Amino acid sequence: MNNLLLEVENQVAVVIINRPKSLNALNSETLSELERLLTEIQMRKDVKVVILTGSGQKAFVAGADISEMVNASPKEGRDMALLACEAFLKLENMPQITIAAVNGYALGGGCEISMACDIRIASENAKFGQPETGLGIIPGFGGTQRLARLIGKGHAKEMIFTCGQIDAAEAYRIGLANKVVPLNELLPYCKEMAAAIISKGSYANSLAKSAINSGLDMDLANGLKYEADLFGLSFATDDKKEGMTAFLEKRKAVLTDF
Ligand code: CAA
Repeated sequence: MNNLLLEVENQVAVVIINRPKSLNALNSETLSELERLLTEIQMRKDVKVVILTGSGQKAFVAGADISEMVNASPKEGRDMALLACEAFLKLENMPQITIAAVNGYALGGGCEISMACDIRIASENAKFGQPETGLGIIPGFGGTQRLARLIGKGHAKEMIFTCGQIDAAEAYRIGLANKVVPLNELLPYCKEMAAAIISKGSYANSLAKSAINSGLDMDLANGLKYEADLFGLSFATDDKKEGMTAFLEKRKAVLTDF
């Protein structure tokens, strides 16, 4: 991998987008590497949480790589968007819980990749934005779709139409960031959150993730039916037996399914 770093420790994979000279901008090679790496990680039983971050202290990801797009044809533009779409859907739907550690600029494709993660933790210096229309294009890595679903149509349209950057506090206020922490506490905080998640039922968390993600694309009646199906499925696990027995025996449960 030329553009990504991977560190695995305590069942947590930290994936670092590592193109500091271009503020971790996403080019096609990085998107392909990400898709391949996530395919590998989603099969790993020793990884229960994935933290995605950018290298350096200035940027999470400053967007799609403008130097690659500047001379791209319409077909090449579409192909790049489809490549990102594939990689980001993998990120969004992998069984592991994913946390974006947003350590600076999250612009365009950077804001978009953070939204494909389950949870976004921002450092105090983080800045979110969708600057695409200022470049004469529209968001192409999911911005028009995931942003509106996450923060609502009004805020999403304002961010996209004005290309304005919002700081971490505003991102938190409108629900784009789950939490804001000082930059030097960002990774420790995300790892602490990962440990808390891992201490719960990992298979159950993965079913709950599927119920939330898929349910949002259904009408309420079908979403509730899907939830009931997965609720029933969770009754088939060793974790369900152990979790409930441990509660009744007043001891700490040891949950191992994944
Ligand atoms: N693509 C390619 N290179 C980028 C880049 C990007 N998205 N963002 C930054 N860089 C490069 C700069 O060209 C510069 O390279 P050189 O040192 O070779 O000149 C280097 O990173 C450092 O950047 P700056 O000198 O601009 O740093 P700054 O501190 O002055 O500004 C910034 C930081 C505000 C993030 C600014 O770099 C910026 O505005 N970047 C572009 C942000 C952007 O428009 N992103 C959206 C891209 S389009 C998109 O993402 C479409 C989509 O939906 C997928």
